[in-house]
Amino acid sequence: TLRIAVLASGRGSNLRALLEARDRGELDAQFVGLFSDKPESGAVRTAREHGIPVVAAKPRDFASRAEHDEFLFSRIEAVQPDLIVCAGYMRLISEAAVRRTTGRMINIHPSLLPNYPGLDTHARALAAGDGEHGASVHVVIPELDAGPVLAQVRVPVLAGDNADTLAQRVLAREHALLVETVKAIADGRLRLGADVIGYRDAALSAPLRL
Ligand code: GAR
Repeated sequence: TLRIAVLASGRGSNLRALLEARDRGELDAQFVGLFSDKPESGAVRTAREHGIPVVAAKPRDFASRAEHDEFLFSRIEAVQPDLIVCAGYMRLISEAAVRRTTGRMINIHPSLLPNYPGLDTHARALAAGDGEHGASVHVVIPELDAGPVLAQVRVPVLAGDNADTLAQRVLAREHALLVETVKAIADGRLRLGADVIGYRDAALSAPLRL
């Protein structure tokens, strides 16, 4: 049974997808904590409804990013997760905090990395005239959205798309992508570890494709 800690800031649909996979018996996991910078978020509510311990702290109550990260990541360490999943965690994580996770933290990002790290990925894909967009799951390294890609899903851009319609089409596939990747880690088909944290460019040799 994989011990999973989740970091989330937003509506929490990716968290829900993971919980539903566990409830269907597809994912052998124990959710050992939900960690957030947004105490009022949907993700926090969902975790409480499922009896998952919540640690939520607003960055503005801390003197610096480093102190906020220290608060959250010391509590993450305390629950001894095998895997830490950033599921819509919308803050940069300081290098010291990333290093504490020793390559066991993954992130879902709504673009075909290495395209469009950062924010507003859907609008940027549209502005570039891309025919395809998608989502990636990657290992978190100190550089933003730059760690090795574990899995990707491709989604067509359709005529008449705007950032919202495209985001919705991608989101529907993100859920399966994240669930499949976490299942592969839980089953031992995909291995993470400290050796990957210094790894900067591009993909592992055979990323999962959905
Ligand atoms: C998802 O689309 C996720 O890929 C994105 O935030 C959304 C969270 O949705 N993450 C990022 O942009 C990370 N930089 P959710 O709260 O419903 O899971």
